[in-house]
Amino acid sequence: MPSSFDAFADFRMTGHKVIITGGAQNIGAGIARTLAGAGARVMIADLNGDLAEKTAAEIAAETGSDCRGMACDVTKSEQIDAVVAATVAAFGGVSTLVNNVGWGGRHDDPTAIPDDAFIASYKLNTISAYRMSMACLPHLLKEKNPSITNSGSFSSAAPAYDILAYGTAKAALNQMMVSIAHLLAKKVRVNSILIGTVMTPGYADAGIDPAMQEKLRNPDNLTGRPGSPQDVANAFLWLCSPAAGWVSGQTINVHGGGGVVRLFGS
Ligand SMILES: NC(=O)c1ccc[n+]([C@@H]2O[C@H](COP(=O)([O-])OP(=O)(O)OC[C@H]3O[C@@H](n4cnc5c(N)ncnc54)[C@H](O)[C@@H]3O)[C@@H](O)[C@H]2O)c1
Repeated sequence: MPSSFDAFADFRMTGHKVIITGGAQNIGAGIARTLAGAGARVMIADLNGDLAEKTAAEIAAETGSDCRGMACDVTKSEQIDAVVAATVAAFGGVSTLVNNVGWGGRHDDPTAIPDDAFIASYKLNTISAYRMSMACLPHLLKEKNPSITNSGSFSSAAPAYDILAYGTAKAALNQMMVSIAHLLAKKVRVNSILIGTVMTPGYADAGIDPAMQEKLRNPDNLTGRPGSPQDVANAFLWLCSPAAGWVSGQTINVHGGGGVVRLFGS
């Protein structure tokens, strides 16, 4: 018997106009693809402009949604403003912001992290999300069901001394976004997802040895596997869509149930 109830209706993103930072590859590309697949128009803003355009073209072909890419360094205010202006010109507004950019790598000696490394990490992981959110705010306020959703990290909420400059910057992001959720109460929903291990090339680039990479592929979390970009994107779809219309000011774990964060040594 055909159902007259559409349980997926609230998850559809038709009419939504998304900016996603760092969406050219890996987790961000998964989120961009999923939101576009749910009917949103999506602008991918990434340091790698060529890859952003290529990924956007692939997503547009796969989903049939309007997906575009452009170069943007989210640590530069003028480039943030350019992305927002281009999105408004292309889509007629911005309803949905996904602050996905982040990372920062390890420091061999957690007792001697240079100030510059902390400052760079805070600029990339924390301040960029603030700047992007404030640049989008006038446009978000004009929309129905506007939201900001952030790629946080489980390392912000667990001991993670191999990656102190990163984990503390992500912890600051959590606090900032809960505060902004209250600042924008009844106007814009704001949530963060604390992501666990998703095996991306970033782990190898950070100098994690093959043995530890193998351990990360079989993590000691409650599911016994690392996440995929799609695992993470599914949670973003919920939080960005009208289905999460009663959810704001939350930091939500999507990490296979969690475990000890330990990227180096045993
Ligand atoms: N991969 C994981 O296991 C994991 C775990 C926890 C949290 N996260 C978080 O999820 C998010 C995505 O992670 P990922 O592993 O897919 O990252 P990634 O490094 O694979 O991709 C990040 C993207 O951001 C872009 N980028 C980097 N600096 C930029 C800048 N200044 N301006 C604009 N774009 C920039 C890169 O070009 C790249 O396309 C990050 O915030 C990360 O901290 C990831």
